[in-house]
Amino acid sequence: MKKQIIAASLIAALGLAHTAAQAQSVNVICSAQAEWCSLIATVYAKTTGVKINMSLKGSGEAFAQLNAEKENPKTDVWFGGTGDPHLQAAEQNLTLEYKSSTLPQLQTWAQEQAKQSGYKTVGIYSGPLGFGYNTELLKKKNMPVPQTWEDLTKPIYKGEIQVANPASSGTAYTMIATLVQLMGEDKAFEYMKRLHKNISQYTRSGTGPIKAAARGETTVSISFVHDAPGEAIQGFPVLAITPKDGTGAEIGSMSIVKGAKNLAAAKKFYEWALTPAAQELGAAAKQFQVPSNKAAKVDSHVPDFKKIKFIQYDYAKYGASNERRRLIAKWEKEVNALPR
Ligand code: F6P
Repeated sequence: MKKQIIAASLIAALGLAHTAAQAQSVNVICSAQAEWCSLIATVYAKTTGVKINMSLKGSGEAFAQLNAEKENPKTDVWFGGTGDPHLQAAEQNLTLEYKSSTLPQLQTWAQEQAKQSGYKTVGIYSGPLGFGYNTELLKKKNMPVPQTWEDLTKPIYKGEIQVANPASSGTAYTMIATLVQLMGEDKAFEYMKRLHKNISQYTRSGTGPIKAAARGETTVSISFVHDAPGEAIQGFPVLAITPKDGTGAEIGSMSIVKGAKNLAAAKKFYEWALTPAAQELGAAAKQFQVPSNKAAKVDSHVPDFKKIKFIQYDYAKYGASNERRRLIAKWEKEVNALPR
């Protein structure tokens, strides 16, 4: 009888432990490409037993969601997406100060991103902005590869270019901030009005235009150049270049949400995401940003930063709430509202 009671309690205890392991989960908004997000979820569940409830959102949309749920956060970690809205979230106190012991192992730009947010975000990858193009369509339409920002406004590209909408996409906001820093605000807006005439569509997601270029649905895209090789590997005729006159780069970031319900699990995931092994999953999912951990292998498809002419992107200024809000509203009013 005694033995039976002991066995029954053991089974009950094991059952409880199993349920506890199953119940362990972390809610992540992922603003990287779907392939990378789902590989992270699979590998993380396999290696830790913790389930990731993953939802996919563009950088601007993710920021809007964190803002909307700030009284009762449903998200624990925001993984990926351009750094500017992560800095804005930090400034608005939507994210939690957290200093990882891995920080010294990260690239300077990733540490800088953490420092200027008061350690409420951290850089996890970086990549340059440029132009994607469908090599076959360009040839068929007898168009040259655009080399400079100015080239994109030439009449030959009318209706041939796609870029995302900056309200939802961090890629598109990076473009606005880059142009403003490269040309000065007045000239940049005058430029974007001319560019507008050549745009066939402003997509919701930042990677929409490069996918469209790859599939021959547009000839040219304004995209992060690290998003092109993944499409080319799948067999699509697409390449990307950076403009000769200079460009900006994103610092893809990660933040823990303030008031996260699964805080301990959030911190564990965050620490894991900064390890070389986790960061190498990007390339395994055919995502070719530069990883922020210096010890992570850099895949040969990752753009070579030494060959690119970069502007001195002021991340603090263009990640500030008022500036980001102001520039996007101005773009809506002065550019997007114009007829094409
Ligand atoms: O995942 C690809 C990517 O280009 C990232 O490098 C970047 O952070 C993200 O997309 C931006 O997406 P969106 O422009 O939709 O916010």
